[in-house]
Amino acid sequence: MSGRFFRWLDERLGIRSVILPIITHPVPRNVDWWYVFGSATLVAFIFQIITGVALSFSYVPAPNSAYESLEFITNRAVLGSLIRGIHYFGASAMVILVVVHMAHEFLAGSYKFPRELNWFTGVLLLFLTLGMAFTGQLLRWDQNAYWAVVVAAEQVGRTPLIGNQLAQLVVAGQTVGGATLTRFYATHVFLLPALMFLLIGTHLYLVINLGISEPPQAGEPVDPATYRERYRKILEEGIPFYPDAAWKDVVFALAVGAVVVLLAAVVGPPVLGARADPTIVRADPRPDWYFLWYFALLALIPPSIENIFILGFPLVVGLLLLILPFIASTGERSPRRRPWAVGIVVVSAVAIAALVRAGQVATWSPNFDPGPVPAAVTARMSPSAQQGAIIFQRKGCHNCHLVAGTGGLRGPDLTTVGARLSRPQLITRVLNGGINMPAYGGNMTPDELNALVDFLQSLK
Ligand code: HEC
Repeated sequence: MSGRFFRWLDERLGIRSVILPIITHPVPRNVDWWYVFGSATLVAFIFQIITGVALSFSYVPAPNSAYESLEFITNRAVLGSLIRGIHYFGASAMVILVVVHMAHEFLAGSYKFPRELNWFTGVLLLFLTLGMAFTGQLLRWDQNAYWAVVVAAEQVGRTPLIGNQLAQLVVAGQTVGGATLTRFYATHVFLLPALMFLLIGTHLYLVINLGISEPPQAGEPVDPATYRERYRKILEEGIPFYPDAAWKDVVFALAVGAVVVLLAAVVGPPVLGARADPTIVRADPRPDWYFLWYFALLALIPPSIENIFILGFPLVVGLLLLILPFIASTGERSPRRRPWAVGIVVVSAVAIAALVRAGQVATWSPNFDPGPVPAAVTARMSPSAQQGAIIFQRKGCHNCHLVAGTGGLRGPDLTTVGARLSRPQLITRVLNGGINMPAYGGNMTPDELNALVDFLQSLK
């Protein structure tokens, strides 16, 4: 009975003639554990789709209900917290897997002839994955998510020439609101996943059509004239993908899945902050970690180049990644013969790790409750300067500036500003403000200004 049913299916689907040859196709004998990251990324993507669909059954993408629907999912829905947790940690896992997969293919020179398009579609998939991560954060619709998008829109808006149009495209209007949420939702659940399905299909077709790249050997450069013939010989001594190579993929995917589920069950989904409120700026608009490093980088570069850097930097990096296989499609593949490639990967990894760390510890947004300037600082100051210290707090200077370790980090540390700037310089600064500092010319009496500057001058 089952034999007849199988034959019936086989005649129509070509299980033995088409599908079996694909899953048992030969792969190079020495494929190692580095080859598992691509398939693990695919598995992570499938898990995101499944948990995403499950979440969409209860999530309401409207400003008045989004937050409440997430609270419902997290606290009351059956398995809701677990599914949200898997979706959250799965997203992190997918970003990590994509990046490691890419670093490996870069180091192994697998983007070279004839696999240029594998790399090209892979880079597009990286962009889409990051796009999913970005649009997903706003759907949480809590204070941090809301203000992170406000900040992102402001930063995009500072791009020369097209900034305004770009910002309006991102937020769907002049301010972040219901229209923004709808736009992010549609992008997150329809547009980007559809593009990803298309590109993953293409990517996999290319992998099957061209075969997996063999582990590189130093001294065997890629030459389009001879490569195909050499690869054919390697496959003649190859092993069938299923089951001889595929078990590694299965083991690794199961391990990743176990870690994600464990994190989701033990740590749980990210705690929802306060409900998004456009009238309260009291928030810590920090993006999720996959963008935190870039956020930190923007805070560290000189403000004068920030405007061109904000979109310019990702644009240049993106373009370099896209054209890489076309400008370096032949030659040595082995990392032993490509010190520059190794250097680029090591430097990027260290820089990104350091920047994520910097982004976690820094408080770049103003500190809204800095308290008074410590008494130890003002103790030996003149009465006028002590008066100035009170004005310093009352006028909000302390929210942005550190004095003796207290206050905000939005502006420079002023603990020793008296030794650095002259009285006229201080007066000019307070009256005129600066980049990211308001001008106080219009709302300070001459007496207040005098006392304030006395205070600043005593900070030595
Ligand atoms: C919204 C945050 C913010 C507030 C509020 C603020 N500042 Fe600033 N301040 C900054 C930033 C950012 C800079 C650096 C600006 C630049 O380089 O153009 C700065 C620069 C300065 C400097 C120059 C420091 C240096 O080392 O060059 C002084 C002095 C200063 N602020 C004093 C004040 C005083 C006094 C007040 C209150 C009346 C105040 N600031 C309020 C953000 C702020």
